[in-house]
Amino acid sequence: MTTKELGVGLISVGWMGKLHTRAYQSLPTVYPELGIRPKLVHAADTAADRVQYAKDVLGYARGSLDYRDVLNDPEVDVVSICAPNLLHAEIGVAAAQAGKPFWIEKPVGRHAADTALVAAAAQAAGVATSIGYNYRHAPAVERIRELIAAGELGRITNVRAVFFNGYAAEPNGALSWRFKKDLAGSGALGDLLSHVVDLVQYVVAPVTEVSGLLSTVHSQRPILPMGVADHFAVIEDGELGQVENDDYAAALVRFGGTGSAAGAVGTLEASRVIVGPQCGLGFEIYGTEGSASWSFERMNEFRLCLTRTGPNQGYTTVLGNPAMGDYGKFQPGPGNAMGYDDLKVIEASKFVEAVTGGPRRNSTIEEALADAQVISAVAASAVDGQWHKVSEVPGATFGHGNG
Ligand SMILES: NC(=O)c1ccc[n+]([C@@H]2O[C@H](COP(=O)([O-])OP(=O)(O)OC[C@H]3O[C@@H](n4cnc5c(N)ncnc54)[C@H](O)[C@@H]3O)[C@@H](O)[C@H]2O)c1
Repeated sequence: MTTKELGVGLISVGWMGKLHTRAYQSLPTVYPELGIRPKLVHAADTAADRVQYAKDVLGYARGSLDYRDVLNDPEVDVVSICAPNLLHAEIGVAAAQAGKPFWIEKPVGRHAADTALVAAAAQAAGVATSIGYNYRHAPAVERIRELIAAGELGRITNVRAVFFNGYAAEPNGALSWRFKKDLAGSGALGDLLSHVVDLVQYVVAPVTEVSGLLSTVHSQRPILPMGVADHFAVIEDGELGQVENDDYAAALVRFGGTGSAAGAVGTLEASRVIVGPQCGLGFEIYGTEGSASWSFERMNEFRLCLTRTGPNQGYTTVLGNPAMGDYGKFQPGPGNAMGYDDLKVIEASKFVEAVTGGPRRNSTIEEALADAQVISAVAASAVDGQWHKVSEVPGATFGHGNG
C-alpha cells in the first residue's frame, strides 16, 4: 500500500491541541488502511512556552505566535483549530478562505451566529470540516444508535440525557476563559449541553422545539490569565472576578424527523459545578419495545433491555466488543477498555477520510450549526420563558438520517 504524507497544522496548544496531535500520531498504526502518514508541520499559540512545547515535545517542525503563519504555510494540508470559543469564527473563516480543510473543536464559536459564519465560509470554499464532538463515536453509542435505527427499541417515547461534569465544583476553581461571555459565550450551556445536544441528535433524532432554564451557582472566582494552566486549576487567595455565564443549563425538548423517534420528548441537563459526577455524560433512551442507557464514566459498556415480559425482563449489561463502532480497530476481543484519547483517534480517522474523498462518516459544520441552533433556542427560552422552535439547517443529516 502506498502511504501519502498529510501536512498537519495546529492552532492552539492547550488540552485539545495536544489531544488532536496524539490522534494524528496514532492514525498510521490504528488505521493503516487510510494510507496516510500525518506530518506535524506547524503549530501556533499566543503563549510562547506552548509553542516551544509543540516543537520540543509534540514534534512540530515549526512554531509561531500568530495562527496566520500556520494557515499560510504551504506544507500544511489540514488544520486543527483548538482555540478558545471566541476565536473559532475568525480562525474557521480564515482557514476556509486559505483553502485548508479543518477539524475544529466544539461548540464552534460562542453562539449560532459564529457557527453560521464558519459554515458559510466552509461551504463557499468547498473544504471538508470535522467537529470535536468526540463522544458520538464511542463504540457503545454507535451500537445504541444502530439499535434505534433498526427499530429494536420500538417507537422512541422519551429521553433523559445529561452532562454532569464537576470541573468547576470547587468555588476557588479558576476563572478561565470559559466563564467570560466575550470569550466563551454561554457557560455549561455551550460547553457541556452542546455535547448532550449533539449526542441525542446523532443517536435519536433532530430536536425541533425547546424550553430552557439556566442558573449560575458561584458568581465570583479567582482570575486566571489566558494560556496559563487549565480550567481544572484551583487558585487559593487569588483576585476575584465575575462569572458571566451559566453554571447549569437544562431543557425540555421535542424530537422530530421521520424516524422511530419522531414525536418523542425528553430532558437535557448540564452542570459544571456538580459535586459527585466527574465526567458524567450519559443518556437513557426509552422506547415501546425496549430501552438503552450509557454513561461516559463507564464508556466501555451499556445497559440494554429488549423485552417487556418473560424471565429476562430488565437490563443486561453489554460490554464493548468488535461489533460496536470502531472498537475492533483498537482491541481484537471483547471487554478490553478503550479510553478518551481513542475517541479522538476515531474522530481524526473520519476527518482524514472526508478530506481524502472517502465515505462521509464524520461530523460536519452543518451538524455543528444544527447543534448551535438548539443551544441558541435554549438560551432564548431561558430569557423569555417561552417554548422556542429550532431553526432547521440544510445538510445536517447527522451521518445517516436517523431522523
Ligand atoms: N471535544 C471535547 O470533549 C473538548 C474538551 C475540552 C475542550 N474542548 C474545546 O476545545 C477548545 C479549546 O479548549 P482547551 O480545553 O484545549 O483550552 P485550553 O485553555 O487548554 O487551551 C487553549 C489554548 O489556546 C491558546 N490561545 C489563546 N488565544 C490564542 C490565539 N489568538 N491564537 C492561538 N492560540 C491561542 C491559549 O494560549 C491556550 O494554549 C474549546 O473550544 C473547547 O470548547 C473540547
